[in-house]
Amino acid sequence: MSAPIILAVDTRDLDIAKRWIDATRDYVSVYKLGLEFFLTFGSSGVSEIKSQFDVDIFLDLKLHDIPNTVASAAHAISDISPRFLTVHASGGQAMVKAAVEAVPHIDITAVTILTSLSEDDLFQIGYANPALESAVSLADLAVKAGARALVSSPLEISAIRNAVGPTPTIITPGVRPAGKSGGDDQVRTMTPSAAITAGANYVVIGRPITGAWVDGAAAMKEAAAQIARDIQG
Ligand code: C5P
Repeated sequence: MSAPIILAVDTRDLDIAKRWIDATRDYVSVYKLGLEFFLTFGSSGVSEIKSQFDVDIFLDLKLHDIPNTVASAAHAISDISPRFLTVHASGGQAMVKAAVEAVPHIDITAVTILTSLSEDDLFQIGYANPALESAVSLADLAVKAGARALVSSPLEISAIRNAVGPTPTIITPGVRPAGKSGGDDQVRTMTPSAAITAGANYVVIGRPITGAWVDGAAAMKEAAAQIARDIQG
């Protein structure tokens, strides 16, 4: 039974990407293809994955430009119809709205604040408020512009859910299964089930699942199954 897991397919090897999808599709709802995949294989790579596996795609391009350019970029991938397409909420309301209007059949997904940014980084960029308040403002702005989904750090889920209500889809990376927080660069983490309880609709997970590939497809499938069981209680 698939769980609300979005698997980060972070690889430049198309064959590996397909093997990962094949091994995990019983437990994963959506596959995230990001800049690394898209800049290597383009729209045709995304279409190939979609047509071979009939899976939902989270196209993580994090678009951020003037509204006209973002609308044109969204048009350019319109035919491959990912379920989600990311843009930066900090591109502003007109930019998010331009993306929404360009591809009404795709859930424009607004990234609030990258979790890689510290409070000091935000201050240096010129943000007036701390990350939590800024993320809530950005989420609110994006939803008002028509974004149907939001990406935030797990620590911001509750505040964003309170601000935007039950309808927008909230997606969070930065989750780690209980007892497995070490070993890579994610720092401020939550477990997948805690993130869902806090109000997220999906968790984005990469290495806790893809890292098991070194032990083979069955090990990777079991890693996905374990996280699915954790979420589903
Ligand atoms: O391997 P890991 O589980 O850390 O992968 C998480 C995925 O989510 C990666 O594709 C990473 O780029 C992405 N991501 C993140 N933190 C953010 C935004 C995206 O980890 N704030």
